[in-house]
Amino acid sequence: MDAIIYNSKTGFTKQYADLLSKKLSLSQYDLKKAKSALSKGSEVIFLSRIKKGKVDEFKKAAGRYELSCVVGVGMSIEGEEVAKGFKEQTGIDEPFFYLQGGFDFNRLKGMDRFVMKQFRDAMVPRYEAATDLDEAQMNMLKMFRDGGNCVSIDRLSPVIEWYRNRENVC
Ligand SMILES: Cc1cc2nc3c(=O)[nH]c(=O)nc-3n(C[C@H](O)[C@H](O)[C@H](O)COP(=O)(O)O)c2cc1C
Repeated sequence: MDAIIYNSKTGFTKQYADLLSKKLSLSQYDLKKAKSALSKGSEVIFLSRIKKGKVDEFKKAAGRYELSCVVGVGMSIEGEEVAKGFKEQTGIDEPFFYLQGGFDFNRLKGMDRFVMKQFRDAMVPRYEAATDLDEAQMNMLKMFRDGGNCVSIDRLSPVIEWYRNRENVC
């Protein structure tokens, strides 16, 4: 494995990349700056935020590097079905992990901010008025209303385990 590459706009995916980099003793690079440091075809673990149901910049990363595994980071709660949805919608064949990151409206800029403001303003009153929200909806309401950071080393356990099995190290 050559390195970890990440794509992060508000910092949650970068936090996971930092943790993983330390844990696996691998260098990490921002996708935008990796070109000068890593040659085409390098074998990497790719971490990126989820945007509109897909792993953002997956095609760009897959076009330049050999992705041995992909980690999507979103604001939705974790679950097999959620992960399967992101994997299929993005068109990922590589091993895929979905991790809950967080949401910080104040760090959003430009079109991201515009889109999420519209989404938040439409959803929050509707969810606040409802009395039968499930766990996923309650999480969304909380994220949109208060923001949140769910990044933890524990959430990375499946990725770390996958890596150790693959590299045959403990
Ligand atoms: C335009 C936009 C679309 C998003 N779409 C989704 C989504 O479909 N599912 C999800 O779980 N999170 C979605 N998010 C939330 C981000 O994936 C989440 O905040 C993530 O932790 C951001 O990672 P970052 O801090 O590394 O940029 C979206 C965020 C933005 C700005």
